[in-house]
Amino acid sequence: MGFAARIIGTGSAFPDNRMTNKNLADKLSTFGIETSDEWIQKRTGIVERRISSAEKPSEQNSSLGAAAAKNALEMAHKTPADIDQIIYATCSPDTLIPSTACWLQHKIGAENAWAMDINAACSGFVYALSTADQFIKTGQARTSLVVGADIFSSLLDWKDRNSCILFGDGAGAVVLEQTDETADSRILSSHLLSNGSLWQLFYIPAGGSNLEVTPDRYQANLHKIKMNGKEVFKTAVKNMVDFALQALNKNRMTIDDLDWFVPHQANLRIIEAVSSRLNLQKHKVLMNVDRFGNTSAATVPTALDEAVRDDRIKKGDLILLDSVGAGLTYGSILFRW
Ligand code: UT7
Repeated sequence: MGFAARIIGTGSAFPDNRMTNKNLADKLSTFGIETSDEWIQKRTGIVERRISSAEKPSEQNSSLGAAAAKNALEMAHKTPADIDQIIYATCSPDTLIPSTACWLQHKIGAENAWAMDINAACSGFVYALSTADQFIKTGQARTSLVVGADIFSSLLDWKDRNSCILFGDGAGAVVLEQTDETADSRILSSHLLSNGSLWQLFYIPAGGSNLEVTPDRYQANLHKIKMNGKEVFKTAVKNMVDFALQALNKNRMTIDDLDWFVPHQANLRIIEAVSSRLNLQKHKVLMNVDRFGNTSAATVPTALDEAVRDDRIKKGDLILLDSVGAGLTYGSILFRW
């Protein structure tokens, strides 16, 4: 009998500080840049986001990840010692070395685990979950902790109103356990693809080994994200539709079989365009972009966790995760809760 992986616990954590659109507009006005609550809500659906305080150790990336992980472990009735692998999706690591996964391992005391980071930007959680699934299917791991977390505020150019209005900080986590391949509750399939030729749509010029951050480059904000919003929007809609259909087709299912759709929360208009092209009923779409903005690798696990905890998600429900991110990276995962 072969193995499969199933999700047995979810968790999330956010920084305390709420930044409303009005707070954001006030901040930008100090740089002479105009925006408004009305514009942001109309074009993105975002009302507020959470912004971490770098000086608070409890709001570091790995600390939010650890808080989310503890919630997920509690739901799963597991302890840190039970975990044998930690896969941490982030593009805003605590430090470049060591990995944020190792910081988290240290903070929760998961001494029996190996740990690594994955950077697929906003698709990170889907890539990390798919990776953990492969280790469990091949029998190389029995219990995995998968985290998607970003302090995206650390990558923002607050003088670029096109991008800084979209993002926030947060962390989501799931615990996976080995089951058998015929179990009802399990990951059914995952689908990943990247297109590095579209790197210019969303990137950070400086701070890697190609271009060190010098005082001049720092002044020019080259260590912050550059985004072509309109092109990302179009590519996101097209590929999220394609990847949702790939997952359903592979399992010989249709959109009507789905109980829940958990799309990457980039912009309410992207989610609405994808849902409408898929002919998906609105009440099946999980959303938290209004309250948290785009939290990058954390959007999918936090939206999932919310619906698990408020009992919208029931045993046996069919759930589709769907994402797009810088790279560009695309991915979907179909699973039964
Ligand atoms: O994980 C993936 C992350 N990235 C994304 O998902 C980005 C996807 N793209 C988007 O969400 C949208 O393209 C944006 C929210 C970035 C922009 O919305 P849009 O509806 O595509 O606006 P636009 O770029 O067409 O701009 C329309 C107008 C422009 O003014 P003019 O040229 O018509 O006078 C912009 O200068 O809105 C202006 N504008 C703003 N006005 C007030 C752009 N940003 C702002 C702003 N406040 N924050």
